[in-house]
Amino acid sequence: MHVDLNIARFDPESGEKKPYREEFNIEVDETSTVLDGLIKIREEVDGTLGLRCSCRSAICGSCAMRVNGKAVLACNTKISDLVSDENKSINVEPVGNMKLIKDLIVEFDTHWQKIKAIEPWVKTDAPPPEAEYIASNESMMELIGVMGCIQCGACVSDCTVLAVDESFLGPAALAKAYRFLADPRDDANNQRLKDLNEPAGMWDCTRCMQCVEVCPKGVDPMGRIMKLRDFAMEAGYKNTTGARHAEVFSDIIKNNGVLNEFWLPVKTFGMFNIPEMLKLAPIGLKAMMRGKMPPIFYEKIPGSKNITKLFEKTKVV
Ligand code: FES
Repeated sequence: MHVDLNIARFDPESGEKKPYREEFNIEVDETSTVLDGLIKIREEVDGTLGLRCSCRSAICGSCAMRVNGKAVLACNTKISDLVSDENKSINVEPVGNMKLIKDLIVEFDTHWQKIKAIEPWVKTDAPPPEAEYIASNESMMELIGVMGCIQCGACVSDCTVLAVDESFLGPAALAKAYRFLADPRDDANNQRLKDLNEPAGMWDCTRCMQCVEVCPKGVDPMGRIMKLRDFAMEAGYKNTTGARHAEVFSDIIKNNGVLNEFWLPVKTFGMFNIPEMLKLAPIGLKAMMRGKMPPIFYEKIPGSKNITKLFEKTKVV
């Protein structure tokens, strides 16, 4: 089978200032993966092509890269799934949100610093158990999914918050934090939640779902971040913009059946929080000029009482 691999190249030692594209036309088998194609290029066409790989079995996490704009494991992505009779071209780039070293190789330092920042080990003052610690089936079921993370960085690559704010802890580190908060042996939940409640922590996720979509192991980082938020609210950590936003959001819908975008930020920040209100004024002005200004007075939708009942029944607020 014929394929054109259009690869992002960059070699700082060659004097190139910016990445450029190079296309390789190769023959591959029906069962070949993108990684097989790249290795073939490196072994038979251009030995300078830089890439990382090891297990070739979707276990080690070292071959994450962007293929046709999405982060994937190259060893787990079949070429035949990406080409058709009309289109034989595949774009291959390094993962995003990490510093580029060479071709498809990026620096993972910031990723590991963030993993280290959440203190990824069991913290307990309990004396060591006499035999092995027996965790309940229920707690293990909760942990198994998140323990499947292979630290490939795919979620970090495609996180839309990290793309604009590199201080954000990010989906991988927050999912790892959840792994210890949900561990029945860990006694440091309060301190962990306090730390994760800070700016750049759990409340900065915008729930875009990209991390869920690209995770090759079904870790569901965004789902874990939402559970961290639940833990924080249940533990009484409610005095943050994120926590207030969540409460006000639910409260408005519970009482009116529909969101009111005018009151959502006003109630979240507080009407007399002049600096925040001034920051929001240009958005309000733009919305007004485009005829998108939400109503200043609440408008309940017909049947809103049923929505209130639903909230009460499910005890959301
Ligand atoms: S080479 Fe190990 S996950 Fe792809």
